[in-house]
Amino acid sequence: MTADREHKGPDGWLAGAQARVAAADLGPHAEQIGRVESIADGIAMVSGLPDVRLDELLRFDKGQFGYAQVLEPDRVGCVLLDGVDTIEAGDRLHGTGDVLRVPVGPALLGRVVDPLGRPLDGAGPIESDEHSPIERPAPAIIERDLVTQPVQTGTLVVDTLFALGRGQRELIIGDRAIGKTTIAIDTIISQRGSDITCVYVAIGQKTASVRRAINAIRTFGRMERCIVVVAEAAAPPGMQWIAPFAGLSMAEWFRDRGQHALIVLDDLSKHAASHREIALLTRQSPGREAYPGDVFYVHARMLERAAKLSPAKGGGSLTALPIAETDAGNLSAYIPTNLISITDGQIVLDARLFHEGQKPAVDVGTSVSRVGGKTQAHALRKVAESLRLDYAQFLELEMFTRFGGMPDPRVRDQLNHGARIRALLAQPQHAPLRLADQVALVLALQAGLLDGVATGDLDGFRRGLSALLDAQAGDIVARIEATGDFADGDRERLRDLLAAHLTPKAGP
Ligand SMILES: Nc1ncnc2c1ncn2[C@@H]1O[C@H](COP(=O)(O)OP(=O)(O)O)[C@@H](O)[C@H]1O
Ligand SMILES: [Mg+2]
Repeated sequence: MTADREHKGPDGWLAGAQARVAAADLGPHAEQIGRVESIADGIAMVSGLPDVRLDELLRFDKGQFGYAQVLEPDRVGCVLLDGVDTIEAGDRLHGTGDVLRVPVGPALLGRVVDPLGRPLDGAGPIESDEHSPIERPAPAIIERDLVTQPVQTGTLVVDTLFALGRGQRELIIGDRAIGKTTIAIDTIISQRGSDITCVYVAIGQKTASVRRAINAIRTFGRMERCIVVVAEAAAPPGMQWIAPFAGLSMAEWFRDRGQHALIVLDDLSKHAASHREIALLTRQSPGREAYPGDVFYVHARMLERAAKLSPAKGGGSLTALPIAETDAGNLSAYIPTNLISITDGQIVLDARLFHEGQKPAVDVGTSVSRVGGKTQAHALRKVAESLRLDYAQFLELEMFTRFGGMPDPRVRDQLNHGARIRALLAQPQHAPLRLADQVALVLALQAGLLDGVATGDLDGFRRGLSALLDAQAGDIVARIEATGDFADGDRERLRDLLAAHLTPKAGP
């Protein structure tokens, strides 16, 4: 107080005022103001911003946003993010000196947002004081660890034959409307009891499909542990382009704090299309299938951000499930081959299987998981050991015997068993199975206990299984869910329990 008064004494006050006058910037001061020269299809060509950097966020005087995508000597190509119809030639804009950032952190949980992190669910503003650039470097090799822990997708055919690991990137690929989104959404629903935070990014999807996905998560999953990022088909191409990057930054927040996250990118074919659209509009030279040459690099860089971090980096993980759409099952088109070579495996869906009623329509011949197999829960690995081979042999045998002839009894048994494998690998949507239920199902199947059950009755058996296990083997269920493995004698006890349940009651 006294010090203050002394400072503000007549001499002190004068000195302070003189210092402020000396420091004041009274000279001319330069500001770069951009002007829209032309605008079409969500891209504005802008002059007057020679110092703008690539990816810099640009703000229009009327409040809209865009980012600098193409730098030419006298013009900047600005990809518009909102208010596309409200921007006209002659409008003024400024560089912001910053790249695009989105809000991150727990405030986003349970919310549906656009790729700029603005709420779309009418549930009030996002109260987050943390923001992260949408383009972030992927973890370096020494910051990574091996993928060793499983992610339960809850879909039996995936968990038994193509197990997914935390930090893995697994592509879901197939024609339109044959259950790609459903497998991804069911994986999110399956995390209702796990410690994995889920981010679902919808890119270029129809409003109705996005709504269906959100409703499924709200009804069957735990929405309060999920974030949904939406750039639907009607959104400007710029919004669709940034959506996966924004979603990744939101998911990385959890990864970088030693937690576990899963991101679904639905889908990268639409993302590639928005990339192509922007490139053609900004006159970059087109390459194969008219995609610009850097589309491979864009997707590779994007998916490298999924990782399992080393203990020194907190041990968190980010698992990615990118989705790609094929045309008439053509896996060798440009974008599908790119994505297959970037990811650690693919789940291939087959339109013929889907229309025959085999849902999920996973083609076991062409699907593969290149790292997840080692992570599979031990109990499941023990019971599912010969499943893949049995099923493959069955499919081959079935093809042979289709040409007629009377199969001998051994072959008939094999066909009979295979038909039950196929029936169990089919699964209704939005009903992911617990690990313990999967273990019991495959145990019953491979012990031959189901060979006498009509295929039509298998669904009933599966539906009643959870309750049966909880009632009569609660300790084994708890152990499998907690450790992923059997204790001594568990396997035999489980088999006896299932055998007793499945043996037809002796009639009169
Ligand atoms: N396992 C399943 N059981 C029953 N219906 C399914 C199953 N998987 C998908 N469907 C249905 O098939 C349709 C297409 O699925 P969707 O996941 O939207 O396909 P995509 O993402 O490949 O376009 C949806 O109506 C969905 O409800
Ligand atoms: Mg879909």
